[in-house]
Amino acid sequence: MAVETVRVGLEERAYDILIGSGVRERAAELAYGRLLTVTDSEVDERYGKWIDTVIGADSKFIFPAGEASKTPVTVIDICRYAALKKYDRKSCFVAVGGGVVGDMTGFAAAIYMRGVRFVQIPTSLLAQVDSSVGGKVAVDLPQGKNLVGAFYHPKLVLIDPQVLRTLPEHFIMDGMGEVIKYGCIRDAALFETLKERGSFENLQDILPEIIFRCVDIKRQVVENDQFDTGERMLLNFVIHSCTS
Ligand code: GLY
Repeated sequence: MAVETVRVGLEERAYDILIGSGVRERAAELAYGRLLTVTDSEVDERYGKWIDTVIGADSKFIFPAGEASKTPVTVIDICRYAALKKYDRKSCFVAVGGGVVGDMTGFAAAIYMRGVRFVQIPTSLLAQVDSSVGGKVAVDLPQGKNLVGAFYHPKLVLIDPQVLRTLPEHFIMDGMGEVIKYGCIRDAALFETLKERGSFENLQDILPEIIFRCVDIKRQVVENDQFDTGERMLLNFVIHSCTS
């Protein structure tokens, strides 16, 4: 599959999602002012050199991998780091990582100087098919997950299926849960394909198409219900409050 573009049509908040092997290299062309890359310790181990070479960010903020880092304190640390390095309102934060990285970078971008641009380069299957699309950014509190956050959309999402090849298995498992969910809620043909192929390994030759299909389903849902008051709840299998 050549590089495919999914345009999320949200008027002044509209943005492109590019999907294709090698598409992460387009990060070298980002023209959004100074770039601050945010990533976690595991992703930095795998992609730190690539980040330094291709994104060429003059600064990189790395936090310890895992949901335990997804706190207001880490977000303020990102903002404090940006301030220390004198990032201004024309800057752009670049999230390279899974859902936790995307959520925190997006939330930091939403509040730093009352909002700077951000770009998502998701590196887990879950982030590629779900969390990097739709603008939900948040952190957890001891009282619950995602209790503090915003709807804040990226300027661009670069989805490169190649990065999934080096991923530990548990990052594939939770992402496949989401892929199967899209089949269940919106795409019987996708569900049949998943059943026929039977495993993630057997999907390799059509993985970009599968990701494209999931992202496009999510696009439709987000366009219909950006602020999660009706149809979008279906993505969390909350069906009782969906409007028709
Ligand atoms: N992950 C569900 C949503 O974005 O609404």
